[in-house]
Amino acid sequence: MTVPQAFQYQGSKRALAPLILQYLPVGTMRLVEPFSGSAALSIAAAARGRAKEFWLNDFNAPLAQLFSLIINGQKELGKFYQELWRADHSDALEHYYQVRESFNRTKDPRLLLYLLARCVKGAVRYNGEGFFNQSPDKRRLGTQPETMQANLNTISTLLRGKTIVTSVSYEDVLANVREDDVVYMDPPYQGVCGERDSRYFSGISFDDFVAQLAVLNLKNVRYLVSYDGRLGNRSYGKPLPAKLQLTLVELEAGRSSQATLLGRDEMTVESLYLSRALAEELEVHPAIHRKHRQEQMQLMETPPPYGKTKISKRVS
Ligand SMILES: C[S@@+](CC[C@H](N)C(=O)[O-])C[C@H]1O[C@@H](n2cnc3c(N)ncnc32)[C@H](O)[C@@H]1O
Repeated sequence: MTVPQAFQYQGSKRALAPLILQYLPVGTMRLVEPFSGSAALSIAAAARGRAKEFWLNDFNAPLAQLFSLIINGQKELGKFYQELWRADHSDALEHYYQVRESFNRTKDPRLLLYLLARCVKGAVRYNGEGFFNQSPDKRRLGTQPETMQANLNTISTLLRGKTIVTSVSYEDVLANVREDDVVYMDPPYQGVCGERDSRYFSGISFDDFVAQLAVLNLKNVRYLVSYDGRLGNRSYGKPLPAKLQLTLVELEAGRSSQATLLGRDEMTVESLYLSRALAEELEVHPAIHRKHRQEQMQLMETPPPYGKTKISKRVS
């Protein structure tokens, strides 16, 4: 089954979801995503029957509301999208700006679906006053209404009746997780360029996040975190501290097109951290997932030092 997405979303874990799901215990009762975004992991997990229930949460309220509509009102949502999309063609750019202005006034989540389908790279950007200010993609018309409706229908079928959707800050989700939950956290990026990231609604504080993970450890909650990474030999983001006793698995996400343009052949590698409770249950040791088998044979390097454990098992 092709796993659908409702909209492109910068930072979506759709491509990495099959790898990440290898670290979800069989028979997971509930998968909790406190930073759900486009919910790529939950949708992939539902499509593969890897969890019975889901809790999606995103601090961006119209985005969370959009997910409620996708799950419980997908027919009306698809029709609304079709009307907006068809109205688009006499002056597509002007139409986009009108919809954007209307979204900023009303925060209607249905308008956000159109904006996400039509904006540059699915990159949600808000200005300092909280207004969506991303430009339209001038080369693409956005998802065809028929394809959109089919995707919405599939996602609804996968998640309806087994999913709750909320829009609170992630700490409030973590305070309410149960012992039999598995939590997948993909917080806002720390910024590849070293700047404060303006792509998301809010940044989160590194120290607060580490403190929240320490509390989850005390409660023995099983969790996974996508956090830092590296491009070639340069790392981005601050690694999570060894005192959290996490197990690091590195996932190759693909070649960097920007580096390729500059004549460098560099792979983007994303870190996935497993909580101690999860790593012990799954008997996972630090590992690197290579994208291509040939490279796996050529490159027998170990991951960068993290904690005290040595690489002892290659999972892919
Ligand atoms: C990297 S994206 C998640 C992408 C997601 N894994 C996917 O596959 O689409 C991070 C998300 O965290 C949300 N966010 C930012 N600050 C938050 C907070 N304090 N609590 C909850 N969500 C937050 C953003 O709105 C954004 O959608």
